[in-house]
Amino acid sequence: MTRPAAPLLSVRDLRLEFATFDGVYQAIDGISFDIAPGESIGIVGETGCGKSVTAKSIMGLLPSPPARVRAGEILFDGEDLLTVGENRLREIRGNDIAMIFQDPMTYLNPVFSVGTQLVDVIMAHQRGKPKSERMTKQEARDHAVDMLRKVNLPNPERQLESYPYQLSGGMRQRVLIAMALSGRPKLLIADEPTTALDVTIQAQILDLIDELRADFGLSVLMITHDLGVVASVCDRVVVMYAGQVVENASVERLFDHPAHPYTRGLLASVPHPGRPAASLSGIPGSLPNLLDPPSGCRFLGRCSLAGDDCLTRPVPVALADRHEAACWRAMEAASAGT
Ligand SMILES: Nc1ncnc2c1ncn2[C@@H]1O[C@H](COP(=O)(O)OP(=O)(O)O)[C@@H](O)[C@H]1O
Ligand SMILES: [Mg+2]
Repeated sequence: MTRPAAPLLSVRDLRLEFATFDGVYQAIDGISFDIAPGESIGIVGETGCGKSVTAKSIMGLLPSPPARVRAGEILFDGEDLLTVGENRLREIRGNDIAMIFQDPMTYLNPVFSVGTQLVDVIMAHQRGKPKSERMTKQEARDHAVDMLRKVNLPNPERQLESYPYQLSGGMRQRVLIAMALSGRPKLLIADEPTTALDVTIQAQILDLIDELRADFGLSVLMITHDLGVVASVCDRVVVMYAGQVVENASVERLFDHPAHPYTRGLLASVPHPGRPAASLSGIPGSLPNLLDPPSGCRFLGRCSLAGDDCLTRPVPVALADRHEAACWRAMEAASAGT
């Protein structure tokens, strides 16, 4: 069996809370996961479980206050992003880690052309480089055309002159991907990048991310509430529930042998052809109040398998090679299959 490569990103026991008027909101409670070079990981879970907060804490984008990291490490290539300081973090964010979001229009300036914005981003990447390696404005423009070609925008030369409002949602997302990858990052974090797009375009953007991942040797952290997205672009899945990781497995393993009752509920709510799309909230009940989280299993109130032992917080159990679930009943559930 091949051993996984040393991780590019390693989130270890991250705990993060928000100071709110109502009290301390424990948004992330001791999550851990790794991403190997070239690997694509999906974080999946219903709205409010802490996916975006996790992404933003990796990027150092959470305002503090109200956000406060209580414990943990976020190791990127061995450096702890939680302690490197704002300057180094800005450098890493500009060059090594890039992010795309659900609504590309929010991140494009409506009054500048696509070319101006893309060339600006490319020029910004030159700042930290030795003079001899810096691109000229003309080289940056050529690189911009090249990047637009890589994201399969038709007529890239002409698109440089376009303004964001002249582009469709799918084309804008392609422009944002071009910007994100123009500095050749090692890690792309994509937070619900296709949620605002219609299904056909969604599939095209996912294919594009997959293709670019191979071309660029990228690692991808794909954040989504949609298991279909995970199935199409990810190698591994981290399932989050109420600020905790409840299961971590390869995509094949998760779909064939889901162990945590929450994961099983998610899989049961995946839409089937001919049926209207079900949502994750198809699981009865709601998330616990994280202003005063239960000390035992956080899924307790929604779980049909729950018993008295679940009043104690479950520890992650290894079910197979690189498959873990935090559930006292995980072993029975996984061996039962689906
Ligand atoms: N700035 C903030 N202040 C207080 N609570 C926040 C803040 N940002 C996010 N949260 C809370 O943290 C939880 C997780 O949010 P988020 O990561 O955005 O969820 P999602 O999984 O849908 O991306 C939510 O309950 C949200 O209300
Ligand atoms: Mg989110």
